[in-house]
Formats: sequence, structure tokens, C-alpha cells
Amino acid sequence: MERFDRTGTGSVKWARAGAGRIALGLADMDLPGPPEIGAALARRAEHAAYGYTACDPAGRELVATWYRERHGVVVDPDWVMLLPFGPRTALRLLFTVAGPRRPVAFPAPEWAGFAQLCRAAGLPFRMVPLARDALGYRLPVAELTAGGTDLIALSSPHNPSGRVWTAAEIRALAEGAAAGDGLLVSDEVHGDLVHPDHGLPQPVAVAVAGAAARHVVTLSSVGKTFNTSGIPSCFALVPDAVLRERLTAHLAGYGLWEGGLLEQVVQQAALRHGGPWLDGLLGELVTHRELVLAALPAGAALSRPEASYLLWLDAAALGLPAERAREALMAERGVELSDGADFGPLGRGCLRLNYALPRPLLARALTRLTGPGPRR
Ligand SMILES: Cc1ncc(COP(=O)(O)O)c(C=O)c1O
Repeated sequence: MERFDRTGTGSVKWARAGAGRIALGLADMDLPGPPEIGAALARRAEHAAYGYTACDPAGRELVATWYRERHGVVVDPDWVMLLPFGPRTALRLLFTVAGPRRPVAFPAPEWAGFAQLCRAAGLPFRMVPLARDALGYRLPVAELTAGGTDLIALSSPHNPSGRVWTAAEIRALAEGAAAGDGLLVSDEVHGDLVHPDHGLPQPVAVAVAGAAARHVVTLSSVGKTFNTSGIPSCFALVPDAVLRERLTAHLAGYGLWEGGLLEQVVQQAALRHGGPWLDGLLGELVTHRELVLAALPAGAALSRPEASYLLWLDAAALGLPAERAREALMAERGVELSDGADFGPLGRGCLRLNYALPRPLLARALTRLTGPGPRR
């Protein structure tokens, strides 16, 4: 793909970057999604009745089939809640219904949404620094579960580092949550984007077996995978029937129910037909990752992504000031990245780069990012 122009489509990512800059910030892709999704939307739009729409049970089966075929894990369709809003809203719902009394625990750095949602909901939280060794970031399992906890949340694969947490790490976290009678919320919205050269099957939390399984909720969506976040939807895999009932009752309190009109059209088209497109995308993303890593100065990449399209960077290694590195990049080099400070205090002096864009544009962005001095 040479060029994919989103001008005039209301893209938040490009609006944030501002005129003349290349947007490498927000986590959506500048690559066209599977044509089957557009075709399904167009087909449905032709029928000019857009009234209240029931939840189609086929959607639960499709999610279960997707997990079986792509992740090799068994998901009972009864566990699947098809939510008519995006993952961020679903997390707020989960946090509210779980009603933790003890602080919500999550790693640091971590996707900004967890801290933002806790603040908005008035929930105390504690951020536990990730461990880092020669192989990269590790989950601080003991520290996350220390002293018993009501709610542990994490992105898995990890945003911003692109680490795919191991099955052992996820199982230990789930067991720790269960021991404290708490809940592990595994946010796997990047989970379908594990790079094919990573080599290991993805350790999805829903594969946790035994008594701990009831203490795990997996949240995922087609939004990141197929670039459909503008038509928000997601699904929660909730093995605990009591928690499912509480979530459903809470939804009803907002006049919401599972399903939704366009959400279901998009989700079903993606899960039914998107597999081959996704395989192609993953190959592209691996090539892009290698291009970016090869272009960067030594030490700039703080992690080698195993999934998704996000790279965690050390601003100093790029010759940027630790404070206001994002602003310096925008002003002097014409590229916009995400500010590491958004990922918690440990993210200060870091930046996050999104490499899901057409290759010629990526090459241009890398020249701007790594060349000497102001370059606009
Ligand atoms: C790990 C993670 N969870 C949740 C979200 C929120 O997704 P949305 O804004 O589509 O609800 C994002 C978005 O970047 C994310 O990276």
C-alpha cells in the first residue's frame, strides 16, 4: 500500500497530529481494513429500517469459533457478552460492577485508560513497576497480587511495550487474584495482533483452568484488529455466571442490552471473513517493525514488540529532551508520537510510536524522526 489518505474522515489521530505532521500517535491503523466489513455495512444500510435490534446469538458462537481456531482455546459461547460500546466503556462497567474496596492494581507503564478510568470512578489504584531483564519486560506477579487484591487489570499483549505475557505469568496472576477473592481483568484488545514470528501461542487469560477461571474476565474486540474502533463494540468473556448476571443488570440500568445494529454487522463480518486479511496484515506489521528497529539509533527501542504495532522508545536515545519530547518532535521534526508520561510516571522520558501505516509514509516519518536537527 503506497498511500491511504484519511483526510476529511474525522480521524482523531490525524487531528491530534495537526497539519503537516505525520501521525504516529493514537493506536489505530492507517491501513484499509477487510473489504468484507465495508460490504456487510453497505448491504445492511440498503435496508432502510434501523430500529431496535436484538442480540444475535450467532455472534457468541462466532467469538467462540474465533478463539478456537485462532488461539486454540475453548470458549463457552455462554461466557460471551456482546457489548454495544468500546473497550474503554466496558472497563468502566467492569470496574464499577466489581466495586473494588482495595486499590485496583496494574503494572507501570501501562495503557493510560486504567488510571484515567479509576480516577473518573473515584477508585484508588496502585501502579506496580514492571520488572525488566535481558529478555525484556516481565510482569511483577508477586507485587501485583501482594496483600490480596480485589481487582488486577492489565493489557495483554502489553500496551505500550508490545510484550506478550507468558502463560505462566497470566496463570500466576489469575491464581493470585483468586486467592484474594479478587478479579483479574485481562484487556486483550491487541490480542489478535501477535506477530507470527513470536513463535508461541498467545497465552489468553480465558485459558486459565480450574477454580481460578471464575476470577478472570477477558476483554477483547475487533476494533484494534480490524481498525473498526469508530463503530465501537467489544466482547467480554465472563466464565462466572453470577458476574455475568450482575453486568447484564447494570447494563439494563443504562437502557443498554447486548448487541447493537452496526456493531453486530461489523463484528460478525470481521470474525467470519477477516482471518485471511489479518494474516496478511500481521506479515506487514512484522516487516514494519523490522524497518523501524533498523532505522533507530542503538538503545532507542525499549522493547521488541511481539504483538500489535506500537513501539516503546527512549526519548534521550533519540536526542530529545526527557520532558516535552513529544512537543519537541512535533515542533522540530514534524512527527507526532504518544507521550510516555500518559502511561504513568514511569513513562516520563519515553514515547510510543505506531508503525501501522503505509510503508512509504513510514519511511518518510523515520527520516524525519532520526535525521539531524530540525527537519521540516
Ligand atoms: C489496551 C487498550 N485497552 C483499551 C483501549 C480502548 O479502546 P477504545 O478507546 O476503542 O475503547 C485501548 C485503546 O488504545 C487499548 O490500547
